[in-house]
Amino acid sequence: MKRNIILDCDPGHDDAIAILLAGSNKNINLLGISVVAGNQTIAKTARNALNVATFLGLDVPVAIGCEFPMVRDRLICEAIHGESGLDGFEFPKYEKQFDKRHGVQLIIDSVMNNEKTTIVATGPLTNIAMAIRIEPRLLERLDEIIIMGGSVDNGNTSPAAEFNIMCDPEAAHVVFSSGVKVKMVGLNVTRKVLVTDEVVQRMSKINNKASDMFVKLMKVFNENQRKTFGVIAGPLHDPATIASIIDDKLIKYQHMNVVIDISHGPSYGRTNCDVFDYLHAPHNAYVAMDIDVNRYWDIIEEGIKSY
Ligand code: RIB
Ligand code: CA
Repeated sequence: MKRNIILDCDPGHDDAIAILLAGSNKNINLLGISVVAGNQTIAKTARNALNVATFLGLDVPVAIGCEFPMVRDRLICEAIHGESGLDGFEFPKYEKQFDKRHGVQLIIDSVMNNEKTTIVATGPLTNIAMAIRIEPRLLERLDEIIIMGGSVDNGNTSPAAEFNIMCDPEAAHVVFSSGVKVKMVGLNVTRKVLVTDEVVQRMSKINNKASDMFVKLMKVFNENQRKTFGVIAGPLHDPATIASIIDDKLIKYQHMNVVIDISHGPSYGRTNCDVFDYLHAPHNAYVAMDIDVNRYWDIIEEGIKSY
């Protein structure tokens, strides 16, 4: 049985590969793509999502979602993703139009009109939180929400906070306290899947349009990651969510209590993961604790080859 998914994203280099992977797998029914501001402004992330989906030949609705977070001021991540939000690859000018609905409405309609839908979120959680508030019945219809975000240990935007959560901590609080099944794929795991030169070379050998896009995007992504964080290669964060649907043994999850720090103090935006159950609080999230790195790159390679 195909898995119904709606992908909410902020392309973003790694989001673009998550779109590629979601559109590549015969066991995934990609109902639509909703877009949120995050790595860049909504105008840019939306344009990027539409370009990637169209370039890959994905016949799915792409809808523009929230431009600003629920409470805090807007952050963007130009240092990593560039002025366009997807520097490194030139897309042709396409005719395809955005879906007329708001991204939040696309999420609501997709979940209410299909059985057991999974929301995959690879950007800030603003659209998801707004959808839950506008249509609470989503919670009984949703299968689960899989997010790339947070971290069991340190952040990448402050010592405490990972970017997607830091962009809208209040939205993350709404999602993590909603009662829906949440799977959190955080930095503690995604920092293990680095797009090394060997990985880029391996994907380059596939020599199709998808590999061409992958190689050109990852070249810029890595250059920016090296400049910003001094790492040997960038972590390919977002596709880990989709890959864990393709192979449910890929990631080891641990059920635990996770509380989002919305105190507006030095740890604002932190995902406080109670790994050792100190607080004996209700377990509200499945937190990724490990990933099969070799299998991950096999899944990425299979996805690129399918185009
Ligand atoms: O912290 C990494 C996350 O922030 C990824 O989703 C990346 O695309 C950015 O949105
Ligand atoms: Ca993202």
